[in-house]
Amino acid sequence: MRQIYLDNGSTTFPKPKAVAEAMYRYLTESGSNVGRGDYSRAYAVEEQVYEARELLCGLFHGEDCRNVIFTKNVTESLNVILKGLLRPGDHVLVSSMEHNAVMRPLTQLSKRGVSFTRIPCREDGSLCLEEMEGLVRENTRAVVLTHASNVCGTVMPIEEAGDFCRRHHLLFIVDGAQSAGVLPIDMETMHIDALAFTGHKGLLGPQGTGGFVLGERMLPDLEPLLSGGTGSLSHTEEVPEFLPDRFEPGTLNLPGILGLRAALLWLKETGLERILCHELDLTGQFLQGLMPLEAAGQVRILGRPGREGRTGVVSIQPLTQDPAQAAFRLDRDFGIQTRVGLHCAPAAHRTLGTFPTGTIRFSFGWWNTEEDVAAALRALGQILEQR
Ligand code: ALA
Repeated sequence: MRQIYLDNGSTTFPKPKAVAEAMYRYLTESGSNVGRGDYSRAYAVEEQVYEARELLCGLFHGEDCRNVIFTKNVTESLNVILKGLLRPGDHVLVSSMEHNAVMRPLTQLSKRGVSFTRIPCREDGSLCLEEMEGLVRENTRAVVLTHASNVCGTVMPIEEAGDFCRRHHLLFIVDGAQSAGVLPIDMETMHIDALAFTGHKGLLGPQGTGGFVLGERMLPDLEPLLSGGTGSLSHTEEVPEFLPDRFEPGTLNLPGILGLRAALLWLKETGLERILCHELDLTGQFLQGLMPLEAAGQVRILGRPGREGRTGVVSIQPLTQDPAQAAFRLDRDFGIQTRVGLHCAPAAHRTLGTFPTGTIRFSFGWWNTEEDVAAALRALGQILEQR
């Protein structure tokens, strides 16, 4: 049976060949650490890591490539940012569509005197911008917002939220898990003070890579969560003040970062716009094909009605069957791989009205074809017909 991978929202697959080749080359040919060894092989690796920072800084329109910090994923990035920034007595605004990568650190922090308020979102996952004004308090420090929902693909109004933050002197922290490498991100014009990203989704890099990019306004108050050797200022036991060393203790995931560098080069050559256009074409085709099933009362389609204001992520709620059962059959009988349940985002499912059963999520990527979409629609039609 042909296997059809429609779980790109979880992690993209496959990766460009150049990614695996770069990792293999590092592991078998160069393999040295960076910032430690004083020999040319180490300098060559260091140069490539620096290039990866430059590519990321260019992609996100960051201020300085030294402000690009590598971590192992977006969850770690958000933990470093939120736990390093917020102090007892601080208050933040978050949307009601956030992933647990934001909500769990905030819930932990709420036990240490940090408070948060959820900005309501509509049933299609879109943000009620007009409600933000009334939620700001005297002690509000920041707004934390996902750029695009991992559950239903709804894109948030980042520019407007960024403007709002600037007007109210709030820091703007964006969770780019689903948007980095997918949607255009301009930290400068969007007034983003900290952007958290992962390497293994839209950026098409390997798992275990990710990071965050800081704007200058974040620097004075952000304390490092982790500390240790950096290969710099080895005479002192104090954490270096300068970036990226301040937030990058210990040996980096070098095979991963070099794989990510290769992915970034591949993305640049292929063109983000072209990739997004392809993914949205497939999304549009899928949404169109779902309409008769919705009209027949077999499914509810979550999120925006058309491809506008979406990424290539579509969630559906089967109305005639249990979602887990339907997803199991999609895989077993048709080789179609999706993600079912709550997608680590209970708040988003509460907003969408799909808590606690959840949804089946189809997420399209660059390597998917119109035939994959047609196969998914045929399979769904057959499964949902049988009660
Ligand atoms: N957060 C990832 C997802 O949405 C893993 O599947």
